[in-house]
Amino acid sequence: MNLMNANSAVAAEPKIEPQNYRYLCEMVYRESGIVLDESKHYLVEARLTPVARDAGAGDLNALCNLMRAISGRPLRDKVVEAMTTNETLFFRDIKPFDALRQVILPELTAKRRPVQTLRVLSAACSTGQEAYSLAMLWKEMKIPGWDLDILGIDLSDEVLDKARGGRYQQLEVNRGLPAMYLVKYFQRDEAVWQIKSEIRSMARWRKFNLLDDLTPLGTFDLILCRNVLIYFDQPTKSRILGAFRGRLISGGYLFLGASETTLNLDDKFLRRQVASAIAYQKP
Ligand SMILES: C[S@@+](CC[C@H](N)C(=O)[O-])C[C@H]1O[C@@H](n2cnc3c(N)ncnc32)[C@H](O)[C@@H]1O
Repeated sequence: MNLMNANSAVAAEPKIEPQNYRYLCEMVYRESGIVLDESKHYLVEARLTPVARDAGAGDLNALCNLMRAISGRPLRDKVVEAMTTNETLFFRDIKPFDALRQVILPELTAKRRPVQTLRVLSAACSTGQEAYSLAMLWKEMKIPGWDLDILGIDLSDEVLDKARGGRYQQLEVNRGLPAMYLVKYFQRDEAVWQIKSEIRSMARWRKFNLLDDLTPLGTFDLILCRNVLIYFDQPTKSRILGAFRGRLISGGYLFLGASETTLNLDDKFLRRQVASAIAYQKP
């Protein structure tokens, strides 16, 4: 190994000053709850370098200086959005959808007969695949006279715009969506698949931060909040779980991601095994 190679084998010089790295981590935590620690240097640099370039800042240190100098939200929002992970797919971790179809939606409809509407919150909805999966599943259940009213919330404008449009690339519809649903509920528009209005009209979308007071959103029969609590610390998880309990009707259900739990965070939910999924019920 020559000297050049030996040098390049040593950890690359961080591109951001330690105090600026701390500034970014604290800002992202304060604005979104997302915890970034020292192990996330590479991720921060990879995701924020394009943001710095778009803002006309030469590098991440200059980006921090720019953010300190201007007090407006847009740049801060861009930085936070760039640090979110938006990975999602149709019928993700299929088990909750089986539980919903077989047990929970029939149970909730029996309970809510007088109103004939179920309200669902798809929290941290990303680009909308979760909400639309539920909408298609509900259509297939064919419950005449009933409405499913889905509200999708996320802190990122970019993902919400995509969810609202209901337009997906071939690669996206290849992930998790049964071919029968693609044929029935989407129409092709050149290279993209447009979800049909009968499904699209079942969901509304709103920019909303899970750290904020959820009361203005109203109450729900069902909350899906999957694959986002993993990015938060324990106090933030507990606080959000408590807020969800406050938004659920008595007997309503919460679903979390496959690796998430209420255990040691909120002991007031009833943990129920439903089909092969775990659901958390408000007593
Ligand atoms: C990995 S995606 C999960 C999408 C979907 N729930 C699923 O399980 O497929 C996480 C989403 O959480 C959103 N998010 C992160 N922090 C948030 C917060 N504080 N408030 C609202 N949404 C947040 C991100 O913008 C991102 O779209």
